[in-house]
Amino acid sequence: MSTNAADTTRSADLVTDDRVEGRLYTDPEIFEEEMQKIFYKSWVWVAHESEIPQAGSFKTTFVGQQPVIVVRDRKGNFNTLLNRCRHRGATVCDQPNGKANGFTCPYHNWSYGLDGKLRGVPYPEGYEDILDKADFPLGKLRTESYLGMIWATFNADAEPLEDFLGDAKLWMERFFKQTNGYPTKVIGTHKFRFNGNWKIQLENTTDGYHFPMVHKSWMTSVDEETADMMSFMNDPEAVTHNLGNGHSVAIMATAHMDLDIDDGTEEIQPRFHHLVEQLESDGYSEAEIRRMMRSMHGCGFNLNTFPNVAMSSAFFRVLIPISVNETEIWHMALGMEGGPEYVNQERLRIHEHFQGPFGFGSPDDAEGWDRVQIGAGADPAMPIMVNRGLNREVTSPEGWPTSHVTDETGMREAYAQWKKMMSAEDEK
Ligand code: FES
Repeated sequence: MSTNAADTTRSADLVTDDRVEGRLYTDPEIFEEEMQKIFYKSWVWVAHESEIPQAGSFKTTFVGQQPVIVVRDRKGNFNTLLNRCRHRGATVCDQPNGKANGFTCPYHNWSYGLDGKLRGVPYPEGYEDILDKADFPLGKLRTESYLGMIWATFNADAEPLEDFLGDAKLWMERFFKQTNGYPTKVIGTHKFRFNGNWKIQLENTTDGYHFPMVHKSWMTSVDEETADMMSFMNDPEAVTHNLGNGHSVAIMATAHMDLDIDDGTEEIQPRFHHLVEQLESDGYSEAEIRRMMRSMHGCGFNLNTFPNVAMSSAFFRVLIPISVNETEIWHMALGMEGGPEYVNQERLRIHEHFQGPFGFGSPDDAEGWDRVQIGAGADPAMPIMVNRGLNREVTSPEGWPTSHVTDETGMREAYAQWKKMMSAEDEK
């Protein structure tokens, strides 16, 4: 099934308040329309500043299906450059990250500066009077950052990044409290693909409903204190807020959602006692140690920012749409820049235990996502329900539509933003 000439249904009409059509996961034409109307119009997250710490540091990634290089130039500015040579289109950089003085295309060696300007072409006599280098820089996206998180957009008319983030900014501030006053750094990334549409993962990040079922094996693999902390099914304070612009936050461990607030009742888990001893012997204060140990699991919530990055618990989750039925996920673990490395290492072990390739969490999630894609492929007209909690959604004192964390409030907001962006008229 597709949105062809005979079928006059607009893609945007396939989303209603409480359900979406399965075709949203399976129709290649809808996927292509999403690239044009969402990924090439919205702000898309590309990097954390710790990944490109110095002048010349770069990483490569994608905005939608467009390969890009995110690089810090000599003035300290972040540039997002199209990774596509202006001669005959080859990618100019194939390294995932690194440090460079510029980028030289391997095909015929046109070379570009960190700001994307074309600096030189070999054997220039063949271009005398017919090539002005100023006319052939690498394409450049608008790039803005907030709290070290860098987004880029192809859309010159997009609202300022901070306006787009809106109320998600408050939750970003809370999220980064987990590095306890130290700058945040990415301490490890792993990438994997699943056989499903990108929106299946987008939904999952604020889907508390699946947690006690899909993650039963993880719950039985952790100590009692951790299992208790994540037993939010009957906690009325565990809620999901719709933050607007497609963003939402699902709060699972309420005692940790603002790590500056500590009523002193929480016991440090026995499994961290060896760290406490080491920190004491290294001269850290009691308050510093308590703070670090309370942050071992991250921030207590999953913040989903539309369309492609979640600040989830203690890591970033990035989604890159490959095709209508394939998505790449990056899980990026976080630590403290300049903080005790043995604490960072323990944070990494906790991350691996859930999110790692042999972890007890993410592989179980991926099994569910593959199954959703298979089911949607079998009958794309069958609705996908996102109505859970509509009967109990209220408005929080902050003005956010809110329901229990096991409800589908976050998904509804993501699809509301999807519908809004997909409703834009096709460009002539
Ligand atoms: Fe890049 Fe020719 S394609 S120099």
